Amino acid sequence: MAKILVIPGDGIGQEIVAEAVKVLSALQKEGAIALEMDTGLLGGCAVDATGDPYPEETQRKARAADAVLLGAVGGPKWDNLPRPQRPERGLLGIRKDLNLFANLRPAVVYPQLANASTLKADVVAGLDILIVRELTGDIYFGEPRGIETRAVNGKQERVGFNTMIYSESEIRRIAKVAFDAARKRNKRVCSVDKMNVLETTQLWRDVVIETAKEYPDVELSHMLVDNAAMQLVRNPKQFDVIVTGNMFGDILSDEASMLTGSIGMLPSASLDEHGKGMYEPIHGSAPDIAGKNLANPLATILSTAMLLRYSLNNEAAAQRVEAAVSRVLDAGVRTADIWEAGMKKVGTREMGDAVVAAL
Ligand code: IPM
Ligand code: MG
Repeated sequence: MAKILVIPGDGIGQEIVAEAVKVLSALQKEGAIALEMDTGLLGGCAVDATGDPYPEETQRKARAADAVLLGAVGGPKWDNLPRPQRPERGLLGIRKDLNLFANLRPAVVYPQLANASTLKADVVAGLDILIVRELTGDIYFGEPRGIETRAVNGKQERVGFNTMIYSESEIRRIAKVAFDAARKRNKRVCSVDKMNVLETTQLWRDVVIETAKEYPDVELSHMLVDNAAMQLVRNPKQFDVIVTGNMFGDILSDEASMLTGSIGMLPSASLDEHGKGMYEPIHGSAPDIAGKNLANPLATILSTAMLLRYSLNNEAAAQRVEAAVSRVLDAGVRTADIWEAGMKKVGTREMGDAVVAAL
């Protein structure tokens, strides 16, 4: 029986995860999957309860689990805490601790939502791209880092610094994930870097080119990150798989989410080398709408489909969840973020119920 650790987190986390658990429980009840679910604390709620955003008990449970289902962490309540206690450190901590280096962020436009994007429908209709973001390296984790008082031009002042750093092996393993994913898709990888300025991304480009030799059937291209940001809104359908580092991937995946109409639709998987993974929506904890039954649970529900696919190897169950979401959209059921005139507006719970009914 697969062990799943469920971490609702902060803000809308509780509400959206509850709907995703409903979907997993429905599959469990009819015998389609066999799971053991436990819950854990992470982020702001964990700081409140234990003083630590990634408490030891959660560490123990997460290491023992086959997969983690996460809502979201953070909120203004914890904004003034010292950095090591910030909720985001809990999220970065669990990613690093479980070695979840490969972050898969698909951006798929549902035909039913082609009008929900702020871009013209013909620019985004039929879009299906995959951003592969490296998740445990780069300037997010590089040392040294800090804020210090130093002499600058003979005068003492504060200096802030972080280190952008990648090793060859880190680049090679994420490049392989991207090439393997492309093989199952349209066989094209675009690697995004800033090699015209940054040495670390010169190495990135060199190693991606070396790795590509093992994948002669996959077409490799390269793009500078500023151009990639522009191309994503100019003509997003030119991409199949985009592979990039932690920082650029963070930015480009938020941008890509908006091509689909709502950040409330995008799931993600963060995987280690052995198929263990953490699954979470790419959006945040949205404290402004927390507790109001307003949040869109579909990104989290679609994250359970990724969990079924990648950690439980149950493609059939994954496709059923995705088909159920599609059927609910066909029926015109919409949360506020994707609502348009003529559609049926529902809350978080009703959306979850509709997906379960469509299963
Ligand atoms: C994300 C988020 C996180 C990140 C934050 C909350 C630390 O923006 O998952 O994209 O920067 O990775
Ligand atoms: Mg982000």
